[in-house]
Amino acid sequence: MLSLQGKRCLITGGSRGIGLAIAKLFAAHGAGCTLIGRHEESLATAVGSLQQTGASLPHNSHAFDVSRQSGWSDLVRSLKTDRVDVLVNAAGVSQNSLLFKTSCDKLDEILDVNLKGTILGCQGVIPIMMKQKSGCIINVSSLLATHGGRGASVYAASKAGVIGLTRSLAWEVGRFNIRANAIQPGYIQTDMTRGAVFPRPFSLVPLLPMDKDGGLAALIPIGRLGTVEEVAEAALFLANNSYAHNCVLNIDGGLSAT
Ligand SMILES: NC(=O)c1ccc[n+]([C@@H]2O[C@H](COP(=O)([O-])OP(=O)(O)OC[C@H]3O[C@@H](n4cnc5c(N)ncnc54)[C@H](OP(=O)(O)O)[C@@H]3O)[C@@H](O)[C@H]2O)c1
Repeated sequence: MLSLQGKRCLITGGSRGIGLAIAKLFAAHGAGCTLIGRHEESLATAVGSLQQTGASLPHNSHAFDVSRQSGWSDLVRSLKTDRVDVLVNAAGVSQNSLLFKTSCDKLDEILDVNLKGTILGCQGVIPIMMKQKSGCIINVSSLLATHGGRGASVYAASKAGVIGLTRSLAWEVGRFNIRANAIQPGYIQTDMTRGAVFPRPFSLVPLLPMDKDGGLAALIPIGRLGTVEEVAEAALFLANNSYAHNCVLNIDGGLSAT
């Protein structure tokens, strides 16, 4: 029986997409969720959607940029004596450009949000988990971390960093009864993939819109993109399974086989 009854979960990228789906599922299993994103308004709407699930603990949100250390220290200070049972690092930004066309500003943004933001989240929350002698960290990486992707060089590098971080943390925090795991989604239907374009195979310049020529779905063995709910189920498994540690779980419709 999967249950997060009475658990307090911090979820970055909780305002929409995969992060929000994880929050909804965690809340439905009894967790109180703190959602993190940059925009107060979308966070308030997201928290409202959680309250409808009727979980026993209150839900709330904090708006800040996860790549800023000050945002994390303010959050940790505001928690006071609260527990953090599960940290999900799902905030992320994507890339749809070949490396030679990617600006330095975009490069900084991708590394700052996807990698530094995840590192700072772990750094901020691990001392709390060490004090309570338990906790679970779930970092959302990407299949591109290990398989690469055209037009996704910096994104893939940032997500490969997330896997390295997770594996290193597994060494560092296991003895404190803190588990560290990662999810590697393939292509999932969210704002991130909606309308995205992907560089055409074997060609440097033209971009392939997802909805043309069969688009991405035709490249995925199962024949479709994944849903956020399917990724959320993986997160729920990792949050609950007490022997899941250093687990890198791919949810990709078989894309990793291609
Ligand atoms: N969708 C996919 O196919 C796919 C595949 C593999 C991995 N992933 C990974 O899964 C995670 C979630 O992706 P998604 O598809 O759900 O994306 P999404 O729908 O675009 O949502 C991104 C989330 O990240 C938040 N965010 C972005 N930059 C932030 C920042 N600097 N500080 C705080 N929050 C920030 C956004 O909130 P605000 O905009 O309000 O800040 C939003 O909640 C990402 O790490 C992504 O790389 C996605």
